[in-house]
Amino acid sequence: MGQVKAVFCPRCGRTGDSTLYQESCESCGSVLEVAMNLSGLGPKERDTLLASPERGLFRWWPFLPLANRACVVSLGEGDTPLLSAGRLGARLGFERLYLKNDTLLPTGSLKDRSNAIGISKALELGVPLVAVASTGNAAASVSAYAAAAGLRSVILLPEGTAPGKVAQAAAHGAEIVAIKGDFDHTARLFAAAVREFGWYACMSNNPYRNEGKKSYAYELWMQLGGEVPQWLIHPTAGGLGLIATWKGFNELYALGWVDRLPRMLAAQAAACAPIVEAYRNGASDVQPVSAKETIAESIRVGYPKSLGWRAIRDIRESRGSAVALEEAEISEARALLARHAGIYAEPAGAISLAAAVRLRQEGLIGRNDLTVCMITGHGLKQPEIQGHDTSLPSPIEPDLESLRRRLDQEHADVR
Ligand SMILES: Cc1ncc(COP(=O)(O)O)c(C=O)c1O
Repeated sequence: MGQVKAVFCPRCGRTGDSTLYQESCESCGSVLEVAMNLSGLGPKERDTLLASPERGLFRWWPFLPLANRACVVSLGEGDTPLLSAGRLGARLGFERLYLKNDTLLPTGSLKDRSNAIGISKALELGVPLVAVASTGNAAASVSAYAAAAGLRSVILLPEGTAPGKVAQAAAHGAEIVAIKGDFDHTARLFAAAVREFGWYACMSNNPYRNEGKKSYAYELWMQLGGEVPQWLIHPTAGGLGLIATWKGFNELYALGWVDRLPRMLAAQAAACAPIVEAYRNGASDVQPVSAKETIAESIRVGYPKSLGWRAIRDIRESRGSAVALEEAEISEARALLARHAGIYAEPAGAISLAAAVRLRQEGLIGRNDLTVCMITGHGLKQPEIQGHDTSLPSPIEPDLESLRRRLDQEHADVR
């Protein structure tokens, strides 16, 4: 069974009560963190884990902060493919480029890793309702897991959220409230509502939920046969994916199951890059930026208040970096994935590849460096992107002559 050793504040060190659900430190207000007791894990347990026929995220049970298997809510998350981007990699100057395809998670984004744990914990705690403020993907994910668990879900979304993501949440029966302004307005209102109504929040300030994304580290370790990526590139909004993956690798390192750690790279859109800015300025915390429009709308978070400071700390500790990508670079990466790797990702999910392209060109990443790009959201969530035509061409008559004429006009190369 996964054993929680302590719930503590990673900023001031104060310990919390691990038997209660508590989001933030009573002294300094920082989001709490869970420390797992991993002392019982030796080589025998490692081999048992690797040989286990269980698939998916819950196979990593000893690393998860859950006590009761009967409360597990699973939709088959985890164990997403790690694809060697052979052809695409060669084109971009990489010998060893890998793509972790999280578009294949149950609701089409990385959020399922954390919400599988967050909703299972909600059942353990016996809460009747779960809530989230979201740029869209978390809404789809929380509502799906809540539906499977038989819990009510309340979702706050900024106006203008992509219809694909709204449709997902609505289909699962979530109670959706649209909020004027951008995500930062929504997040502020959400924080006030949690204080007012005592909601169980499925956000980055839920220390139990946050542990789910550590599974990236365990899966990569297994899929790479024990090798550790030199560079791990994560699309970054609030920073959770990056810090949780770093934490997972550190746990493996402390156990002696890996002999080095990856260098963590955060990829953000130049239109909204508070973590990149803080990193470049040498700051220890993020300052709010005003979020401009970007096609990477899922990671458009201007003030990653809860975990931004930890993302910067972990990037530095790992000797990583942070990079802001222009719209054209994000769009190009999305097209490269679709046309040369067969992966249809939303722009935010493809931004890690844009970062890989840039940093390879600039020489930070070497040709032989083992590099993993996290591809974090499915393209079907946001097919309508400015500048990309999603409409069907005008139909032709169903006869061969019409087909020949159309191919001659537009696709001379397909015959
Ligand atoms: C597609 C996608 N990728 C990456 C992220 C990054 O999330 P975070 O940095 O908050 O873990 C998000 C968050 O909303 C997302 O929707």
